[in-house]
Amino acid sequence: MSHDHDAPTLDFAGTTPYEDYVHADVLTHLQQPLSDDPGELAFLVTTQVMELWFTVIVHEWHTAGNRLREDDPYGAMEALQRSTYELRALNASWEPLAHLTPARFNSYRSALGEGSGFQSAMYRRMEFLLGDKSASLLVPHRGSPRVYDELEKALHEPCLYDEVLRHLARQGLPVPDEVLTRDVSGRYEPHPGVEEMWARVYAGDPQAEPYRLGEALTEVAELVWRWRNDHLVATRRAMGAKAGTGGSAGVAWLEKRAAKQVFPELWTARSHV
Ligand code: HEM
Repeated sequence: MSHDHDAPTLDFAGTTPYEDYVHADVLTHLQQPLSDDPGELAFLVTTQVMELWFTVIVHEWHTAGNRLREDDPYGAMEALQRSTYELRALNASWEPLAHLTPARFNSYRSALGEGSGFQSAMYRRMEFLLGDKSASLLVPHRGSPRVYDELEKALHEPCLYDEVLRHLARQGLPVPDEVLTRDVSGRYEPHPGVEEMWARVYAGDPQAEPYRLGEALTEVAELVWRWRNDHLVATRRAMGAKAGTGGSAGVAWLEKRAAKQVFPELWTARSHV
């Protein structure tokens, strides 16, 4: 086969190198809509896209935690910053689902059965890294050994915030001992001593490393809160106050979830600066 010298290569012995790297053939054949509604594909693909972003964000927060354990705050902040770009891309992917009407959503909703994003293991990994942990959240995944094992491992690892506080303690900041030695497999509970520590950091030099780390984490927290809020509004538009397919009260339950602050003392400390 002959073609222009400045044109792309057309001949490959096997699959294309692009395919070998991206696995696009696999990726674009993972969509199995359950209804005839033409809008269902966008719902399914948006969900899959979000799963992929969750995966990348978990990877960034893991990296950030590892860097903090090595007392490399700049390496950690680089990973946190990447995650904020990815969180913005994640949040932008609400757009195709943000305008659903209840009738439209109904045309494939029943096909979802008891399926719900609540059962997303990768989202759960994100929440575990943010400190919202509980062994009971492993229960839905008993039927998937690999997923279960990964989640169980994540449950017993320190969350990102634990790594932050341990790092700051090693830098000489006054983090209470009971916070540093907490049972990391349980939910992180806000502590007045940590609030005081952040208030002190925020009253100080904006160029100082703990201050900049605090701001990087605040950015992450705000973007996670925006995801929850966009999800809440999309849900309210699509199904009003109906119960969720996952068995919860629906919007009322999501409102409670969205009201929780990520890295709580970074928000409450602001009242004391
Ligand atoms: C407009 C479409 C959507 C509606 C109406 C909706 C509705 C709901 C509802 C009612 C819940 C509460 C649990 C339940 O009872 O099911 C929930 C949870 C959840 N949904 Fe959605 N959802 C939508 C789209 C999505 C998408 C695209 C994702 C992406 C993966 C997603 C991820 C989640 C997650 C992770 C939770 C659990 C949140 C938590 O644990 O705090 N949802 N959703």
